Amino acid sequence: MAGIIMNTFAGTLDKVKRCDVMLFNVNELLISLSHTLDFAEKEVLRNNTNHGMRVSYISARIAQELGMSDRQMFDLISYALLHDNGVMGSLRKKSVPRQESVSSLEADPTHCIEGEKNLASFPFLAKQEDVILYHHENYDGSGFFGISGSRIPLYSRIIRLADCIAIRYSLGWTIDTVMDSILREARFFDPDLCEAAVKLSRNVEFWLGMDDMFVQNTLVSMLPQVSRELDYRQIRSISQIFSRIIDAKSPFTGSHSRGISEKTGFICQYYEFDEKTYWQMRIAADLHDLGKLAVPNSILDKPGKLTREEYKAIQSHPFYTRKILTMINGFEDITEWASNHHEKLNGSGYPFGLDASQLDFNSRILACVDIYQALTEDRPYRKGMPHSAAMKIMSEMVQHKLIEPSVTEDMNSIFRDL
Ligand SMILES: [Fe+2]
Ligand SMILES: [Fe+2]
Ligand SMILES: [Fe+2]
Repeated sequence: MAGIIMNTFAGTLDKVKRCDVMLFNVNELLISLSHTLDFAEKEVLRNNTNHGMRVSYISARIAQELGMSDRQMFDLISYALLHDNGVMGSLRKKSVPRQESVSSLEADPTHCIEGEKNLASFPFLAKQEDVILYHHENYDGSGFFGISGSRIPLYSRIIRLADCIAIRYSLGWTIDTVMDSILREARFFDPDLCEAAVKLSRNVEFWLGMDDMFVQNTLVSMLPQVSRELDYRQIRSISQIFSRIIDAKSPFTGSHSRGISEKTGFICQYYEFDEKTYWQMRIAADLHDLGKLAVPNSILDKPGKLTREEYKAIQSHPFYTRKILTMINGFEDITEWASNHHEKLNGSGYPFGLDASQLDFNSRILACVDIYQALTEDRPYRKGMPHSAAMKIMSEMVQHKLIEPSVTEDMNSIFRDL
């Protein structure tokens, strides 16, 4: 299949040259990042059902049956991988009882509204309006927003059907029970899509392809060969979406990633980094706490003292950040900087216990900004510290050989008047 290469961006910073462009498959990037969305289910179900990947796989198979073009398939897979990106926010707002199915996470239109908003800046090949907003609409008009038939975007109709099949399969229903239930509820689904799904369901291969062991592999092998020349600035439009998802997880740190990314931007401009490094640092800042999606809210938001076990769970988050970012080609430096943000120069940090000889300058910048942001941001239970008080604590940390002295000193002048 011939690759389609598109180059649509010409973004520049005021002071610096256009940054490197690399051939990047957005869907491959999303598959790696979608593991983090599955952490929401893990928290509720205590197991991982690969929900995003399964829904993408089933959607793509249905799209193939319909004869969709590569470009349509490419966008559909992106939408399907991200269809429940708004669940993190809903999970925070209401406590979902443990051991309930993923459908309990989805039985709330808030995740459709928040999910649609989050994707406003996503670099789709051809964005379609309201795909995420209406991904729970029923064909007969009995869904959250009462939209029916062909007024529901086609991608939403496909995701709706794939979602139901994936959830029921993940609950351990037999193939026959899954398909009988779909046919019993046929009024909820587009008849043409239902017919395609029934046809697919007759092949045992269709079901084996979504087994936990194979689903990622099968999905990767089905990705249309549509690549785009993306620069790191464009990739940042994706990392920004994930930073919003991370920030939505906890009311205690509601704008932490956004704040760090902004402040990291000021520092990079102060040091006159080239454009490529500037955007790589912004991406690393957006994603530094990605691994927090793997830590249960019951621990992240616990008001009292943490037990040893709970503290260990918190300390695991940069490890998960590293594991996920390592999967992405071209993210080598970003991975390093993002996952070292809790390391200390004297080796007393976590989770790897790296020391000064292993921590490069940009890792040290992110570690300093993380501390400064945490000290100065408002939390529900306390006001953020003023600049001078935060700098006093950071100076003590410098004396204890925990953080980089030169960055701390420069931050003092850069952030004094912010
Ligand atoms: Fe959903
Ligand atoms: Fe879903
Ligand atoms: Fe962190």
